[in-house]
Amino acid sequence: VNHLLGIKYLKKKDIDLIFETADHFKEVINRSIKKVPTLRDITIANIFFENSTRTKLSFELAEKRLSADVINFSASQSSVKKGETLIDTVNNILSMKVDMVVMRHPNPGAGIFLSKNVKAAIVNAGDGAHEHPTQALLDSYSIRERLGDVGGKKVVIVGDILHSRVALSNIFALQLQGAEVKVCGPKTLIPKYIESLGVTVETNLEKALQWCDVANMLRIQNERLDISYFPSTREYTQQFGLNKAMLKRLDKEIVVMHPGPINRGVEITSDVADSGQSIILDQVENGVAVRMAVIYLLASKIK
Ligand code: CP
Repeated sequence: VNHLLGIKYLKKKDIDLIFETADHFKEVINRSIKKVPTLRDITIANIFFENSTRTKLSFELAEKRLSADVINFSASQSSVKKGETLIDTVNNILSMKVDMVVMRHPNPGAGIFLSKNVKAAIVNAGDGAHEHPTQALLDSYSIRERLGDVGGKKVVIVGDILHSRVALSNIFALQLQGAEVKVCGPKTLIPKYIESLGVTVETNLEKALQWCDVANMLRIQNERLDISYFPSTREYTQQFGLNKAMLKRLDKEIVVMHPGPINRGVEITSDVADSGQSIILDQVENGVAVRMAVIYLLASKIK
């Protein structure tokens, strides 16, 4: 594998190798060794055509901890605004002897398109509603850390499945590792093809929570959402928002996740997001080690 374009293109052994490598990097970071000289001769461009906090900073930190040279490109402040194409933009960046491109783009398949048209390793940092592979990897890594294993676990992904690259990548990653996946949300936000992926559908949040070991609460993506997809935000919260009272009614303690950014009080209340059952900040912490592993493993094929 010379690129990371989606979980769809990985095998279980690839995920196992990424996690073993991430374990090593996490252990190194935990020993307060924040920088290793491993990728001193690699240059990486992070090119973001969409907003990001976690993914952008996490990749940059991961690259710097591996001692790679890093350049950051934000489309909104670039010559893309003057009409330059994606391929021209990236080829110009690559001519400065850049080895790897980490790209977030609003269009599904943008990373695949780029990988076929330029000579560099491409890492997909989220392409529209298609895939967000490193998010799914850090999510599974965090489940493994909290529950010991992903295999055999029951995971419900709640919310706007239709517009979610996190959902699709998580479904592929969880199933590869032997987890059972259910989605829960308004029917209008669940794509018709979802059951063909071996995923079950539940429209009652409480029933879904009774079933699961892990609940991954997604954000309502207002930026991608046509207003006709669901009633009001208040009605969404009443039916699909996770709160403390709901967790207390369960006969077990489930693990709560969220990829961020959180809309507090919409899909999850603060007392749940900030509780001991939540691994939301563990996910962010683990993102750096997982991305170090992904970059290290891809770079080892360049050198
Ligand atoms: N989880 C995630 O992708 O967050 P950002 O959009 O802030 O990168």
